[in-house]
Amino acid sequence: MNPVDVQTLALFLLLLVVLAMFSGPPVVLAYLYWRDRSQSQHAVLRNFPILGRLRYLFEHIGPELRQYLFESDRAGAPYSRDEYQQMVFAAKYLKTLISFGSKRDFQQPGWYLRNELLPTLMEDMEVVREPTLETRRYVIDDEGLFRRREHVEEQAVLPWTLPDEHAVQVGADLPQPWTLRGLVGMSAMSYGALGSHAVRALSEGLSLATGSWLNTGEGGLSPHHLVGGADVVFQIGPGLFGVRTENGRFCWDAFRSRAETPEVRGFELKLHQGAKIRGGHVEGIKVTPEIAQIRGVPVGKPIDSPNRFPELDSVDAVFDHVARMREAGGKPVGLKVVVGGPGWADPLAEAMARRGDGPDWLTVDGGEGGSGATFQEMADSMGLPVQAAIVEIDDALRRVGVRKRVKIFASGKLSAADRVALALCLGADAVNVARGLMIAVGCIQAQKCHTNQCPVGVATTDPDLMKALVVDEKKHRVCNYVIALRAGLTSLAAAAGLKSPTQFARRHAIYRDAFGRSRSAEALFPYPEAS
Ligand SMILES: Cc1cc2nc3c(=O)[nH]c(=O)nc-3n(C[C@H](O)[C@H](O)[C@H](O)COP(=O)(O)O)c2cc1C
Ligand code: SF4
Repeated sequence: MNPVDVQTLALFLLLLVVLAMFSGPPVVLAYLYWRDRSQSQHAVLRNFPILGRLRYLFEHIGPELRQYLFESDRAGAPYSRDEYQQMVFAAKYLKTLISFGSKRDFQQPGWYLRNELLPTLMEDMEVVREPTLETRRYVIDDEGLFRRREHVEEQAVLPWTLPDEHAVQVGADLPQPWTLRGLVGMSAMSYGALGSHAVRALSEGLSLATGSWLNTGEGGLSPHHLVGGADVVFQIGPGLFGVRTENGRFCWDAFRSRAETPEVRGFELKLHQGAKIRGGHVEGIKVTPEIAQIRGVPVGKPIDSPNRFPELDSVDAVFDHVARMREAGGKPVGLKVVVGGPGWADPLAEAMARRGDGPDWLTVDGGEGGSGATFQEMADSMGLPVQAAIVEIDDALRRVGVRKRVKIFASGKLSAADRVALALCLGADAVNVARGLMIAVGCIQAQKCHTNQCPVGVATTDPDLMKALVVDEKKHRVCNYVIALRAGLTSLAAAAGLKSPTQFARRHAIYRDAFGRSRSAEALFPYPEAS
C-alpha cells in the first residue's frame, strides 16, 4: 500500500470513530427511551423515560449517601455512626476514649447509672488481673484527609474476668455445670448465616479473651466453632439441625455425641428470636456438602424449618424435653425466648415451681434483635424490647422463688459497656452480643446479609468474598472488643461503688422522664415478695 492510501484509510477510520462518538449516545438514548416508554412493568419509566432510572440509582446508593454524608453522628440504624465507631475503635485500637464530651441528647427521657459518693478504688475491684492476655492492636501514626498510617503492636491486657467468688454457676446441680468467668459472650449466629472465616475468627478471638463463649446458632456445630477452644453453647432450633434423624425427628444418639464434645458447655432450645418468630428458609444453593453434613440434611435442597418444635405443644412438653436433655447430656440446658408482654413469663415460672425442674437458664432476646434474614413486620413490632423483657422475666422467676437456680442471659443491642451494665441492673446475669461481634470482625452495616453477597466476607459462604476476612487479624479484634467491654463494665461498677459488675441491681438504674423527674428501676419495678 502506498503512503497516500495509508493516510486515506487512517482518515477514514478517524472519521468513523468521531461519527460513532457523536451518534452512539443519541442512538443508545433513543433506544432506552423507546424501551422505557413501551414496557408495562414500571409506571415511573413509562411517564419519565430515562430520567426515571435515576430513582433506582438513588434508591440503591441512598443508604450509603445518608450514612457517609447526611446523617448525624447519633442517627442511623440499627447502629448510629457513633455507636458503630465505638465498637470499631474498641476492636481495632483497643480504645473507648472520646474527647470534649457526650453527644447524647440529655433533654430526652432515658436511663442513667447511679454513681456512688465515694467510688470503689479500681485496685479494690474484685476482678482477675493475672495472667495478662496477649493480643494485638492498631496504633495510628499519622492521619490526613485521604490517608491514615498505622501500625500493629503486641499488647498485654488485663482479662477483667470474674474471680471464683463472683463466677456465675449455670446448672450447679448437674454432673457438668457451666461456670461463667465473664459476663459477655457471643449470641447465636449460625455457620451458614456467617461464613467459616467469621466463625473461626470468633472462636479464636473469644478463646484469646478467656471467660467468654460462642453460641452455634441453630445451624448445628461445625468444626469452625471448635478451632479456638472457647466454650460453646450448642443451639437447637425447630429445624433440629445437627441433631435430627433422616425423617426430621430429634436424634438422641446425635445429641449424646454432641454432649461428649468437651467445648460444648450447654444446649439452648430456641423457642423464639427477637427479630423473627417464624420458621427459617435456606436456599438450596447455600446447602453445600459441608453445610448439609453439619445440619444433617440433603445437599442442594432448600431447607424450611417450622416456626415451633412440632412436638413441644405445651410448657410441660417443653420441660419434659429439657429434663431428658439434661439427663442424657449431663450439661445445662437453656431456653431462648422473646417476652410478649406483662404476665407472659408466669406460666413458665409457675411450671418451674410446680415441677421443681425446667431450664437452667432463659435467654431473653429483645424485639430489637438482629437476624441474617427476617421480615419487616416481625422485626418492627413483635415482642418486647430487651429492657422491659428482662424485668418481666426476672419478676416472674422471683415471684415463684426460682430466681437463684435459673440464670438470665439478655440480648438486644447490648453492644456497649453502659448498655450491658443497664441490663445487669434490670436483672440479667449475663449478656449475649451478636452484631457487635460482627462489627468486630469487619461488618460495615451494608445490610446485605441475606443475599450471600456480604462485601467484607462476614455474612457469606462465598469463598471469594470470604477472602476479605483474615482470621489471624480479626481474632485479635474480637478479643479486644470483649476486653474493652469488660474493662468498661468494671469501671462503671467501680463508679457505682461496687466491687464487681455482678453486684449491679435495680437501684443502680435511674430513669429520668420527660418532666425531669428521676426514679430508680427499683422504685418503678419493686422486687416481688418471694424473690
Ligand atoms: C447474622 C445473624 C444470624 C443470627 N442467627 C441466629 C440463630 O441462628 N439463632 C438465634 O437464636 N438467633 C440468631 N440471631 C439473633 C442473635 O443471636 C441475637 O439474639 C440478636 O441479634 C440480638 O443481639 P444483637 O443486638 O447483639 O445483635 C442472629 C443474628 C444475626 C445478626
Ligand atoms: S457488612 Fe453487610 S452483609 Fe456483611 S455482615 Fe455486615 S450487614 Fe451483613
